[in-house]
Amino acid sequence: MPGRSRRRWILIGSIVGLVALIAIGVGVGVGVTRNNDNDDNDNNRAASASSSGNSSTGSTSDGAPAQTDPNDPSTFVRDSRLHQSFWGMAYTPEGSQLPNCSNSLENVIKDIQLMSQLTSRIRLYGADCNQSALVLEAIKQTKTNVSVYLGIFNVPDDHTAYTRQRDLVKEALQTYGTDHVLGVTVGNEFMLNYLNDKGSDDPNSSIGDEGAQLILADIADTRSMLSEIGVSLPVGNSDAGFYFNNKVLAGIDYGMSNVHAWFANTTIQAAAGWVNDFFQETNVQPTAALPNHPKMYIAETGWPTESSDEGNKNNGASDASEANLQIFLDTFVCQANTNGTGYFFFEYFDEPWKDAQFGGVEGWWGLFDSNRTLKNIQIPDCPSS
Ligand SMILES: *[C@@H]1O[C@H](CO)[C@@H](O)[C@H](O)[C@H]1NC(C)=O
Ligand SMILES: *[C@@H]1O[C@H](CO)[C@@H](O)[C@H](O)[C@H]1NC(C)=O
Ligand SMILES: *[C@@H]1O[C@H](CO)[C@@H](O)[C@H](O)[C@H]1NC(C)=O
Ligand SMILES: *[C@@H]1O[C@H](CO)[C@@H](O)[C@H](O)[C@H]1NC(C)=O
Ligand SMILES: *[C@@H]1O[C@H](CO)[C@@H](O)[C@H](O)[C@H]1NC(C)=O
Ligand SMILES: *[C@@H]1O[C@H](CO)[C@@H](O)[C@H](O)[C@H]1NC(C)=O
Ligand SMILES: *[C@@H]1O[C@H](CO)[C@@H](O)[C@H](O)[C@H]1NC(C)=O
Ligand SMILES: *[C@@H]1O[C@H](CO)[C@@H](O)[C@H](O)[C@H]1NC(C)=O
Repeated sequence: MPGRSRRRWILIGSIVGLVALIAIGVGVGVGVTRNNDNDDNDNNRAASASSSGNSSTGSTSDGAPAQTDPNDPSTFVRDSRLHQSFWGMAYTPEGSQLPNCSNSLENVIKDIQLMSQLTSRIRLYGADCNQSALVLEAIKQTKTNVSVYLGIFNVPDDHTAYTRQRDLVKEALQTYGTDHVLGVTVGNEFMLNYLNDKGSDDPNSSIGDEGAQLILADIADTRSMLSEIGVSLPVGNSDAGFYFNNKVLAGIDYGMSNVHAWFANTTIQAAAGWVNDFFQETNVQPTAALPNHPKMYIAETGWPTESSDEGNKNNGASDASEANLQIFLDTFVCQANTNGTGYFFFEYFDEPWKDAQFGGVEGWWGLFDSNRTLKNIQIPDCPSS
């Protein structure tokens, strides 16, 4: 399985600069990234699609929306608490990692029914366990205006991970076409993992350039695959905010960057502004100077609502809590929409497998809990275009 739990504290600027910052106790200048694998966890808790539904939200016991016609997923009942205010949403269908692959179309349909009430764009991280096809089939059956950036999760020491997922993406595109596909993202935190394995943290170093050649070869291969099947789609790459190599950037149509104020130890009050500043300074401004002008998006940003251990309940400045997720929602979402920032909110629902595997705050970033129950938060109401 690709990747391990990693939290990289990334230096911005020179080592000397960092030492100076630490010396004067300034809490900025340090950014962070986290890893996101896909994996499976629980099984489908049978949707008691009883016609009565549950409470005012019209949901069934597993949080899935009720359907007026149990056999037609497009007849789901809308939840008045949800608003299509998010530019995009990060999504991994539960059970989407080898070797077990316990995901199901039934569950992905529930997720698309809910997410379509929040956004018109989602991004996937990988393609294993048929998740590209499941998502496109669910969009079709729910008849929702959701489009997806498909993903291929490359692994530095196992090239078959790439070819296997490329073929799954190809098959899904041949089956479903591109009407609901916005792009293909090749690589998720590949450079972060590659550099970490080599004991380096400079993406533009010669070691970074070696890793870049590997991912660039796969990006080129994906482009040939697409042209072979007569498909024209943007091809991009996602990585931790500080890990974009300049040659990789020169070879992609778009980049998706993880930007997490939580791991930079900002206060919740400063979080939204910090995310914007980091993204503009580290990703948007440098890439604007490149000849191909890759379009940059925030791949992940959010705030956790709890931690499974005491030590991580606070990042040194603010708590992991629903109240603070609310503040982040209230200070980031509509402002980023106004600013024209393309971002994927992290994330749609809690992922218990991450909690089991990594602990801390890793499993607790959802707007919904793992049973698709909306947390005690209010979704901002500012339509995203
Ligand atoms: C309604 O929701 C509550 C709380 O989520 C749950 O305990 C209960 O089982 C649900 N009832 C039905 C009929 O789905
Ligand atoms: C996958 O399934 C095997 C066999 O059922 C089981 O032993 C293993 O624990 C499962 N792995 C995960 C990550 O769930
Ligand atoms: C459908 O979603 C796209 C973004 O993927 C958006 O540009 C478009 O306006 C949406 N259409 C409708 C009818 O909501
Ligand atoms: C992948 O998912 C699609 C949509 O549900 C389905 O038609 C297809 O049979 C699945 N393929 C595999 C190998 O499970
Ligand atoms: C690497 O180069 C790219 C492109 O110029 C730039 O966006 C990025 O910030 C650089 N990374 C570092 C750590 O200097
Ligand atoms: C939006 O833009 C303003 C003005 O540049 C900036 O202060 C703010 O941090 C930005 N907010 C977000 C969430 O992008
Ligand atoms: C952030 O806070 C954590 C937990 O208090 C601490 O371990 C870490 O060293 C801090 N990092 C920075 C860069 O301040
Ligand atoms: C989700 O539902 C299962 C089965 O009903 C239950 O054991 C679990 O505690 C629930 N999880 C949450 C986060 O509510």
